[in-house]
Amino acid sequence: MRQAFKYFGTVAGFVMGLAAVSSPASAQQSLTLICSVQEEWCRPMAEQFEKETGIKVLMTRKSTGETYAQLKAEASNPKVDIWWGGTGDTHLQAAEDGLTEAYESPMLPQMHDWSAKIWKQSNGRTIGIYSGALGFGYNTKMLAQKNTPEPRCWADLINPKFRDEVQVADPNSSGTAYTLIATMVQMMGEDKAFDYMKALHKNINQYTKSGAAPSKATSLGETTIGIGFLHDYVATAVEGAPVKIVAPCEGTGYEIGSMSIVKGAKNLDAAKKWYDWALTPKAQSLAAPAKSYQIQSNKATPVPAQAPKMEEMKLIDFDFAKYGSSAERKRLLARWDAEVRNAAK
Ligand code: F6P
Repeated sequence: MRQAFKYFGTVAGFVMGLAAVSSPASAQQSLTLICSVQEEWCRPMAEQFEKETGIKVLMTRKSTGETYAQLKAEASNPKVDIWWGGTGDTHLQAAEDGLTEAYESPMLPQMHDWSAKIWKQSNGRTIGIYSGALGFGYNTKMLAQKNTPEPRCWADLINPKFRDEVQVADPNSSGTAYTLIATMVQMMGEDKAFDYMKALHKNINQYTKSGAAPSKATSLGETTIGIGFLHDYVATAVEGAPVKIVAPCEGTGYEIGSMSIVKGAKNLDAAKKWYDWALTPKAQSLAAPAKSYQIQSNKATPVPAQAPKMEEMKLIDFDFAKYGSSAERKRLLARWDAEVRNAAK
């Protein structure tokens, strides 16, 4: 997997109510979509798709774990057609649980190996749409005021000097935070990883619902350090926030953000149209102007200069099959709930 990266550099449901200019047939079509990336990227995607196809997009932005829970709850009467974005482990779990539909897009040959690999692993039920590395960001002004050394490693985040100064999401709702658990378990072994997370818990000021929320809190100085995908911290830095990103010295994990068609989708044709379109370089190029700096899955999509350089990081050989399996994700989340979330501080 590391090799592959050498080759490329609220329930606020809303209707994208565009008056679509389209053929009468397609004007009838609509698509219900859950978007698990930043709303700033979800919106231009939905708007552009509506413009090009005339298909009305009803979109909700939701975190990864929350989306999985919704798809499971609605399995006997699916209301969603397509789930676009969010960490691949949870899309793999949805695939294993039979919540999503196999589909072979004509765009498949244009994908990077890591994108096609998750598609094969899931028997065609999910496909990689972007990737991004996990790490942390810190607010340079807040750090300067505290007179503490710059954190460079995961180990630095459990320093008692950072008591109540670190923020991360809740892994039950957030794929970002589940990626943190899976990363630590793969890097340290399970028991040591849980010891680390219990020590980290003492420094956590809040477990947020969404994975990107700590990056915003870091940029606003509401927390000194935030853990998450580095591209979310870059997004705040390019807007001028005093945020520095850190690829931890010990090494780190990463995500393959994914897309899946929901089993029993009422608008299957429209879902397939979105799927094929979302894999084109043109659609994927809507990410960077929306300050979303993930590496896109189509080999021809340009890598933005601001994207964190994954090829320069020590990336672990992430075992998506294991950590995306239903039993493993359930087990690790239950252990985190029992041992970490409510541990004494
Ligand atoms: O903000 C975008 C992003 O970091 C994606 O790269 C990632 O797949 C998603 O958020 C995960 O969101 P959450 O942790 O809220 O499930």
